[in-house]
Amino acid sequence: MKLFVYHTPELTPTGNVPECAIAVDVLRATTTMATVLAGGGEAVQVFSDLDQLMAVSEKWSVEKRLRAGERGGAKVPGFDLGNSPLDCTPELLQGRRLFISTTNGTRALQKIQDAKAVLAGAFVNRAAVVQYLLEKQPETVWIVGSGWEGSFSLEDTACAGAIVHSVLQQTNLSQDELAGNDEVFGAIALYSQWQDNLLGLFHHASHGKRLLRLNCHEDLKYCSQTDILDVLPIQQETGVLVSNKVK
Ligand code: MLT
Repeated sequence: MKLFVYHTPELTPTGNVPECAIAVDVLRATTTMATVLAGGGEAVQVFSDLDQLMAVSEKWSVEKRLRAGERGGAKVPGFDLGNSPLDCTPELLQGRRLFISTTNGTRALQKIQDAKAVLAGAFVNRAAVVQYLLEKQPETVWIVGSGWEGSFSLEDTACAGAIVHSVLQQTNLSQDELAGNDEVFGAIALYSQWQDNLLGLFHHASHGKRLLRLNCHEDLKYCSQTDILDVLPIQQETGVLVSNKVK
């Protein structure tokens, strides 16, 4: 198994696909997706375009769908939800499909949608992601941070580091054996420095600060928790993620 970390979708190669690709948007899209599926949502369907989301979800009955739209950290008017994982309660989600479009996270998923296996990872479900990698042993794995409109996000690369760190701990592989690119070493170093204070890291992160300005303190706290959900969002058909519950 060789792991590659890419800080943003823009830095991710085009033209070839890995056996497994993991989109990471800690604040907050992939945290929200894991929460939705852990809470009994039927599936999560991702869109980069809000109008397309509306058109596709229109074919679903109101009882079976929820529409989530976020731009710039805020809820898009007319949508049921923004992108707060705390709004995704089991009572609301039970059996419903979440149709979601966010600024960066859904774009990251679209960038890797042709990989043989496509996963959504965050700190909340890091253990489930790692368990999948250890069980399936994909030859090549890309971990793709969502970043913010093309630029690096501290929290996504730290989460990539958390995934690699855990794989290293559970195998006999050295960093050199596991790492496919230099970014892997940077991601491990970042996570190692902040692993006991991820919330503190989020307070330094530009998107963390943006969310704090939007009074999303509780979201940051929730997203900073590691290994609390035993759920793995996995792509079932293009753009549709379902729960691959870890036994
Ligand atoms: C994104 O996709 O850029 C984020 O998830 C934004 C957010 O925090 O809602």
